Amino acid sequence: MSDQPSSGRRPLIPGQIASWLGAISLVAAALIATGYAYTLVRRAPDALTDRRKAQQNLRAETDKKEHALLAEPSRNADGTYRISLEDAQALIVKDSQVIAKIQAGAAPAAPAAAYVAGPFVAADAEQMKRGAAVYARTCIVCHQPTGKGLPPVFPSIAETPIVVGNPELPIKFITNGLIGPITVGGMTFNSAMPPVAGVSDQDIADVLTYVRQSFGNKGNPVTVDQVKAVRAANAARTAMWNTAELGLK
Ligand code: HEC
Repeated sequence: MSDQPSSGRRPLIPGQIASWLGAISLVAAALIATGYAYTLVRRAPDALTDRRKAQQNLRAETDKKEHALLAEPSRNADGTYRISLEDAQALIVKDSQVIAKIQAGAAPAAPAAAYVAGPFVAADAEQMKRGAAVYARTCIVCHQPTGKGLPPVFPSIAETPIVVGNPELPIKFITNGLIGPITVGGMTFNSAMPPVAGVSDQDIADVLTYVRQSFGNKGNPVTVDQVKAVRAANAARTAMWNTAELGLK
């Protein structure tokens, strides 16, 4: 005898099939839930990848602009350069390639006139004081308080021939910057000095006078007229100077 109540109609879905259907729908529900959860989990990394891509693009764009600024440093109305010293320095440190790229695009120029140094003249104390202040503001981060630089990136300007030679060269380095291989104190540097921003003709004369008579150097003072003449002769120049075109090795 079955223990089913004999009175009732047969169920619409027999008991065994009903439990199978139940199991199947449970599995289906579980599958759907898992699939949905997966799409939720998936969406997060996609958003992250998108954001990362956007950041990469922005960085590439910024790098391109930085390179352009360093290669063709455009000036503001007051004569200062648009790229700050800190930015140029950071850029050089970050990307050694930038120097090679800029070098590839530099134009040749006429060689510097022969320089004959007159007898030594000590600078006056006032000019030395002004020069020391400009040095502390514009050169010290790279060439250091000692003038000995930070080899192998920043060369020494203590007791090197360029510093006490024709001031035309350092005036050019300050106004437009310098790139390319150069040997200083027996060590070859292949770095770049960015144009120095925010210096007047008087500042340049003062700082070079200071450098030429500090750190063991013995060079004559530099006058504002010397700075003006070099600036005027190279007024159209926007690119950095490169050591090869200046005959420096
Ligand atoms: C951002 C760093 C930086 C700053 C700031 C800087 N220089 Fe330089 N300077 C360099 C580098 C790098 C070189 C070598 C460039 C090369 O490898 O072609 C150099 C080269 C020179 C040289 C020729 C090489 C030598 O050692 O004799 C002189 C002179 C010089 N700098 C003077 C100055 C003076 C003066 C100032 C401030 C008005 C100044 N520099 C500011 C980085 C700097």
